[in-house]
Amino acid sequence: MPRYARHLYCDGPHNPFPGLKALERRLGREIPHRLGSNEGLDMPHEALTQRFGGEVAILARSYSDAEAFGVRQRLSTHLASPLDTLLVDAGADSLIALALRATCEPGSVVIASAGTYPTFGYFALGQGCDLQEVPYKDSPGELAPDLMALAEAANYHRARLVYLANPDNPGGHLHENHAIAALRQALPEECTLLLDEAYFDFRPDASMANSNEAWPGVIRVRTFSKAHGLAGLRIGYAIAASQCLEMLQKVRIHYAVSSLAQAAAETVLDHSDEVQAHIDAVIDRRERLTRWLRELGGDVTDSATNFIALRMPSADLAAQVHAELLDAGSLIHRPPHPALGHVLRISALEDALKPGRLAALEKALGSS
Ligand SMILES: Cc1ncc(COP(=O)(O)O)c(C=O)c1O
Repeated sequence: MPRYARHLYCDGPHNPFPGLKALERRLGREIPHRLGSNEGLDMPHEALTQRFGGEVAILARSYSDAEAFGVRQRLSTHLASPLDTLLVDAGADSLIALALRATCEPGSVVIASAGTYPTFGYFALGQGCDLQEVPYKDSPGELAPDLMALAEAANYHRARLVYLANPDNPGGHLHENHAIAALRQALPEECTLLLDEAYFDFRPDASMANSNEAWPGVIRVRTFSKAHGLAGLRIGYAIAASQCLEMLQKVRIHYAVSSLAQAAAETVLDHSDEVQAHIDAVIDRRERLTRWLRELGGDVTDSATNFIALRMPSADLAAQVHAELLDAGSLIHRPPHPALGHVLRISALEDALKPGRLAALEKALGSS
């Protein structure tokens, strides 16, 4: 079984447009007269400037840096990771799609936990993969991906790829690095472990430099949508071995990350104190929300993310609470997968802690 899609074992495809920024870096000088890429460089952008300021208009006119060099350089410094192990793309979702595109063909088997972040299954099915799911470890106080079950299924089905969100969505569970290493070891050699680390920044050990290595056979996917507050701009990154990223580059949409998204990511990375203060505040709120709901008798699992998950006594009660809250104008999340219909997920925002905001949930916990 090959590690990557069979048609990628050749010279190319090569990106026909590495872009002006990459050329400037290669030449070691700026090119002042950009007459070859047919952008709207002479668009006045009066309306845009009035609404967002001149800097946005300047960024908007040009194609972005296809290599996202400025973002990767900062990440490389922050994470102590070599530049060639970092790839920037339009959010973790785009990176999930990219990993699938590079590793799978129609009919390839992929494995995930039943009820985990559903975008993975949506993309996998859209690409013609055979999605095999294994149950969560789901018992009082626990909602965690079952690593042994994932490994067993991967070996049984000779899977191309295993998806694991760590920390998990929707359970919030964190598997420590040694458990991930054991999972990798238990997988078939050519099977890729797609490790979705969208909530990485909320892990207690997030600031440890050795948390950011490229692990063989693993594609680690992260995002600027959560701890960095840039969900609307679409930007994230992968950490993986450089040979693996070379394969991903073959099928990447090279200008997918806008110049504005890159500039915004560079700015937040240059202000890491603000990011850290935000993370600390989120964790504080998450713990307050957890304590409060547990005092009400809720089965709240330990979370290493920016949300909490509650195991309700039944799927019917979870559906009822979800509907009543929506009627009252509050949208919490109930996973669409039938295996996790009894789970409710709530973002750790101050709004969730406002007296009365989750009244329907309080009532349900009081009467169950
Ligand atoms: C586990 C997980 N992966 C990926 C994403 C999407 O991240 P992005 O906004 O970077 O595409 C989310 C968002 O909720 C998520 O929970």
